[in-house]
Amino acid sequence: MTRVAIIGAGLMGEDHAHIVAQDLPGARLQVVCDMDAARAKSVADATDAGDISSDPHAVIARADVDAVIVASPDFTHAPLSKACIAAGKPVLCEKPLSQSSVECLEVIEAEKNIGKQHVMLGFMRRFDQSYIEMRQALTSGVLGRPLMMHNFHRNVETPAADFTGAMAITNSAPHEFDVVRHVLGTEFTSVTAHQPRRSDDRVAPVVMVLETADGQLVTIEINNNAAYGYDVRAELVGEAGSIAMNNVAYTRTDMKLASGTRYDADWRGRYHEAYVRQNRDFLRFVETGNFPEIASDCWDGYCAAIVAEAGAKALATGQKQPITMIPKPDFYAAKTGVAA
Ligand SMILES: NC(=O)c1ccc[n+]([C@@H]2O[C@H](COP(=O)([O-])OP(=O)(O)OC[C@H]3O[C@@H](n4cnc5c(N)ncnc54)[C@H](O)[C@@H]3O)[C@@H](O)[C@H]2O)c1
Repeated sequence: MTRVAIIGAGLMGEDHAHIVAQDLPGARLQVVCDMDAARAKSVADATDAGDISSDPHAVIARADVDAVIVASPDFTHAPLSKACIAAGKPVLCEKPLSQSSVECLEVIEAEKNIGKQHVMLGFMRRFDQSYIEMRQALTSGVLGRPLMMHNFHRNVETPAADFTGAMAITNSAPHEFDVVRHVLGTEFTSVTAHQPRRSDDRVAPVVMVLETADGQLVTIEINNNAAYGYDVRAELVGEAGSIAMNNVAYTRTDMKLASGTRYDADWRGRYHEAYVRQNRDFLRFVETGNFPEIASDCWDGYCAAIVAEAGAKALATGQKQPITMIPKPDFYAAKTGVAA
């Protein structure tokens, strides 16, 4: 039985706790850790977890913890991932690895120094069936050469009143940056960022146009105040046709001369299956030591951070920005997992 600790028991941590408790045969939820002890207790009680804590470093060091899921705020991800690497424990770290590409490189160095991959990143879109089918359409050749990928990320409203366009790029867009890199199998080389004008003081949508090393164009709309629902769309256009994501809804209501499907209020329902698949792959990684073929790693975390930094600069300057990455370390080409 793999004993899992969850650090950070907010919205995402609570979801992870339920998945470990209900959907991962072979795993036991050993500890729920949160700075807020009442929060840790409430999630632990709901999931029948073994223990609670408010000290993440003590949890990582515990002999009765085999693997860690980090779902605390962004700024804690790199330090806690490094602590897991130092302790020799595999970690599923929520995205982003860090909002700073320099800090991502520090985690990469720590992993390279220890000689084995320990960190799987929570870019779970890769496990969503729609993106899996887009990737298959490219690898099988049916779509022909890929030309464009259009992406829309819409939330009902901004999480905080002081949310900015730069935050749309650094907090929301990394999911799109990661999954587009994954589907197209290439890197971004430049980005421009634009915003229309709203009639109020809420943050306006951000629209980015990115070029890839293989000469494709990618559009990404991040609209954090879309008002009507949580809505993610994507369309991959190839020379032989196009493949687009359908709105995922189990039912349609037909009434009063109209037909409608519902939208979720946030991401948790839409991506539940992807989170479960991701966490199952994490458990297999812990059990076998083999890093999952489609999962994001620290290199992917670095790439997402570099693109976000260039995107934020493009928005601030109004100028097209080059995206320049260090060469991919051989270490990540090999996908060497932590020893079982
Ligand atoms: N993969 C996804 O789709 C997805 C979706 C939402 C959020 N996230 C990521 O998950 C992380 C958490 O987001 P959230 O929406 O659950 O936030 P949240 O604010 O709801 O929860 C964060 C929790 O962490 C706790 N915490 C803060 N510092 C801590 C520390 N040092 N040690 C232990 N606990 C600590 C807080 O008390 C809080 O309960 C963020 O990094 C976010 O980017 C990922």
